[in-house]
Amino acid sequence: MTALTTNLPSIEASPFTPSESSSTIDTNKYKMIAENVTVSYSGIDAVKNVTMKFKEKSVTALIGPSGCGKTTFLRCLNRMHDMTKNAKVTGKVMIDDIDLYSKEIDPIYHRRKVGMVFQKPNPFPTMSIYDNVTAGLRLNGVRDKKILDEIVEDSLKMAYLWDEVKNDLKKSAIELSGGQQQRLCIARALAIQPEVLLMDEPASALDPIATQKIEETIIDLKNDYTIIIVTHNMQQAIRVSDYTGFMYLGDLIEFRETKKLFTDPKDELTAKYVQGHFG
Ligand SMILES: Nc1ncnc2c1ncn2[C@@H]1O[C@H](COP(=O)(O)OP(=O)(O)OP(=O)(O)O)[C@@H](O)[C@H]1O
Ligand SMILES: [Mg+2]
Repeated sequence: MTALTTNLPSIEASPFTPSESSSTIDTNKYKMIAENVTVSYSGIDAVKNVTMKFKEKSVTALIGPSGCGKTTFLRCLNRMHDMTKNAKVTGKVMIDDIDLYSKEIDPIYHRRKVGMVFQKPNPFPTMSIYDNVTAGLRLNGVRDKKILDEIVEDSLKMAYLWDEVKNDLKKSAIELSGGQQQRLCIARALAIQPEVLLMDEPASALDPIATQKIEETIIDLKNDYTIIIVTHNMQQAIRVSDYTGFMYLGDLIEFRETKKLFTDPKDELTAKYVQGHFG
């Protein structure tokens, strides 16, 4: 299984002008680039001057102890801090050759390119399973019931939820278990057919079988998507990712190919973390 079999109407040429300053960065090899990104909450830095480049059609894992800034950094890649009053983001985030923080950007256009699965399942509580999966599509103007039905089925299958809900798609999303809600949120993110998928501990509420299936999905999705996943589970990072970044107290300590980071860490802090000596 790779991407969804039903294709949405394609995203047309960008509705905004690429940033002039993007010309200094070679984006041919990279789908996304975060450059010197700093995020502060009420003046206190939670992410400090982080630069990371994300190769197209690869999986990058972000690891590090609780509170080190993984979620804060991930949210920068989707402009999620726009809605956080006390948060300030500086630096640059590029997707393809577009400056994500440029004033001309259309947030709806961008949200279709970058999907996100949050650390805590957050289905729309007043909506059914079906409506949760199709919410983003309807926002993007997709009305054709046949297309919506196909995408709902494909997305729920990819998130390994279809068999459990296929006879009850009109049921309220909040009647699902926590793990089912998380898989619903994964389906919802996949339904918009993003180019980049951000996943913040997508398997933390899942049992081992669902976790294994989601990991298989992530590996499959790599054929079509660029994926950035936060995980506390180092074995999971090893299993699913090509590259891993280790963060500590807001700094990106080391960022390399996953195998190298785990078998031959260059930094003493990384070595201690991957050997389980702290965190
Ligand atoms: N909305 C907020 N307002 C103020 N401080 C915040 C806010 N969100 C996060 N922080 C702080 O920023 C720091 C980084 O938090 P973040 O949630 O990014 O960590 P994390 O690495 O994702 O941790 P975890 O593994 O526990 O999810 C923490 O010190 C946290 O207390
Ligand atoms: Mg987090």
